[in-house]
Amino acid sequence: MKPISVEAIYFSPTGTSKTGAAAIARAIDPAAKEIDVTVAGTVPERTSFPKDSLVVFGAPVYGGRLYRGAVERFQQFVGHKTPCIVTVTYGNRDFDDALLELKDLVEALGFVPVAAAALVGQHTYGSIQVGRPEAADVAQDEAFALQVKAALEKGSLEAVEVPGNYPYREGGSGGRFRPLTSDACTRCGLCARECPEQAIDPVDPSQIDGEKCISCFRCIRRCPAGAKNMDTEEYRSFAEAFTQKLAQRKENQYFLPRARILAKHKEEPYEVPVLQRCGYESD
Ligand SMILES: Cc1cc2nc3c(=O)[nH]c(=O)nc-3n(C[C@H](O)[C@H](O)[C@H](O)COP(=O)(O)O)c2cc1C
Ligand code: SF4
Ligand code: SF4
Repeated sequence: MKPISVEAIYFSPTGTSKTGAAAIARAIDPAAKEIDVTVAGTVPERTSFPKDSLVVFGAPVYGGRLYRGAVERFQQFVGHKTPCIVTVTYGNRDFDDALLELKDLVEALGFVPVAAAALVGQHTYGSIQVGRPEAADVAQDEAFALQVKAALEKGSLEAVEVPGNYPYREGGSGGRFRPLTSDACTRCGLCARECPEQAIDPVDPSQIDGEKCISCFRCIRRCPAGAKNMDTEEYRSFAEAFTQKLAQRKENQYFLPRARILAKHKEEPYEVPVLQRCGYESD
């Protein structure tokens, strides 16, 4: 089957999940469209996908799970036995049950997950895998996408299996840090418009609703004046220790039915046994 349309649908506060999902979608069809559901209340151009289209879902891992708000946003989409690729992006710790949760979610929505990927992105906190996904990661995503495309065209793909456990581990909520705002703020309003949970007061952007904020750090990354920050002693010492703990680089993992394709960073792609779990840490 050659899909008549390809769409990347993602929730991606700091843009790493977007990069992976969009790269995979574009490698399959350079005209692929993007549906960004990061900001709550965004009305997507389309919500229903026919059997002969293809969707690439992308979301970050929060506490080893999908963020609950991402689950809610994805629930507005409907497939009709529509093939899809599920991707989660995690900050070099572990993806735990998030990929399984995304696979189960889209199946319940009428999609058929024919391939999956657990991708590494720069962690929201500290300085962990800064700059990832980098060009080499995107090249791996594209190579994987071309394999999925070839298998789809042969009509040879069934539902994929991914690692994860039942019941899913506890997780899926936001973090505990609430960004601060310095005097450099020009009140441009960008952070308030772009906050996934509308936690920032558009009139006085220094005011953040601590109940709504999920510590995604989108406002810090996007503020053109560098005014949003997390410059507290508590955060600095957490970030330093966390960065040290997660210093060991992890690689992207790609899953197709019956085979896992893992492209190692150093050039040569190779095949390894199906569904080997990656390292598990408690944080
Ligand atoms: C609240 C929260 C929880 C997170 N939990 C995990 C985790 O369990 N494992 C992990 O490796 N990374 C974790 N991360 C890091 C993100 O998964 C990672 O930075 C991802 O690339 C962010 O995706 P985005 O750029 O699409 O927003 C967490 C980040 C946040 C904000
Ligand atoms: S994006 Fe930065 S400068 Fe603009 S309102 Fe927000 S904090 Fe102020
Ligand atoms: S206020 Fe909180 S939820 Fe909103 S963008 Fe900033 S960190 Fe994310």
